[in-house]
Amino acid sequence: MIEVDHLSRHFGPVTAVDDLSFSVGAGEILGFLGPNGAGKTTTMKVIAGFLAPSAGGVRIGNHDVSRSPLAVKRLLGYLPEGAPAWPDMTPFGLLRFAARVRGMPASVRDARMQQLVTQLALEEVLLRPMESLSKGFRRRVGLALALLHDPAVLILDEPTDGLDPNQKQQVRDLITSLSRDKIVIVSTHILEEVEAVCTRAVIIRRGRLVADATPDALAARSRWHGAIALRLDRPVRADVFTGIDGVADLRSEDRNGQDWTLFVTRDAVGGPVIDRVRERLDASGAPIREFWLHRGRLDEVFRELTLGPPAENA
Ligand SMILES: Nc1ncnc2c1ncn2[C@@H]1O[C@H](COP(=O)(O)OP(=O)(O)O)[C@@H](O)[C@H]1O
Ligand SMILES: [Mg+2]
Repeated sequence: MIEVDHLSRHFGPVTAVDDLSFSVGAGEILGFLGPNGAGKTTTMKVIAGFLAPSAGGVRIGNHDVSRSPLAVKRLLGYLPEGAPAWPDMTPFGLLRFAARVRGMPASVRDARMQQLVTQLALEEVLLRPMESLSKGFRRRVGLALALLHDPAVLILDEPTDGLDPNQKQQVRDLITSLSRDKIVIVSTHILEEVEAVCTRAVIIRRGRLVADATPDALAARSRWHGAIALRLDRPVRADVFTGIDGVADLRSEDRNGQDWTLFVTRDAVGGPVIDRVRERLDASGAPIREFWLHRGRLDEVFRELTLGPPAENA
């Protein structure tokens, strides 16, 4: 269990983290979200014991991060933002070095290194200096370093940043496969990542908590949650629906230049409305190919929570 308890962190006049509290239990993969500058990296550095809190604190298991830094570092793997590393060291050298610092016996170390090198596809760069590696490889070396001692707690600061789509997917799969007994906190600004990987999301804004909920519960706050979504074979003009009672709002989305989707807000959910919508569509020669209930849009909820009026006035 990780408990972030009334945590604040200032940098001179800047308040990066402002009275932030949340907790994460074993088996959870927490998505840690917020716009640039919201305080994600600062919070993760404090959790990982790389930065002292200005006020409040963090407990991991029975340990206070500030009072028992070594015990905490044994429990924890940390991928820093940007995955910095010594430029002239090789991934092999870095992993060896980390294993020595962590006091791993050679037998355990070699098997573990082999496993991670395969899992993260590092064979071809193992003996090349870090400075010569692409961002994607550097990040995966960073992940290998964080995972080396099979820690119970993983703090990953934007682990998929700089990866191509296939590599992103591999890292997501890896994170998902890890999670069963671990605690994972992963910061990201990619909302599909939260949907794909996370069991819960904490959203911060200007260092303060603005949401702590499951991805589904967050999506349910969207205006479009429960809306009827229709996919048509071709576009129609919105005024086709003029005068139908209960069609509160409409939006067309051009997907790949082919599919058209219309959303009718939840005010319109109900048999008579959908019947009348269908009549109009039939009359205009635009048959419905499919329809479904919309689960809501996480991007919209995120935007409202992080761009809207400050939380204390909301
Ligand atoms: N070492 C530092 N010195 C001064 N200000 C900092 C330092 N680190 C972070 N900040 C400031 O703290 C705020 C939060 O930054 P950060 O934690 O990096 O946010 P995020 O990771 O969400 O983008 C920003 O305003 C940033 O400029
Ligand atoms: Mg950051």
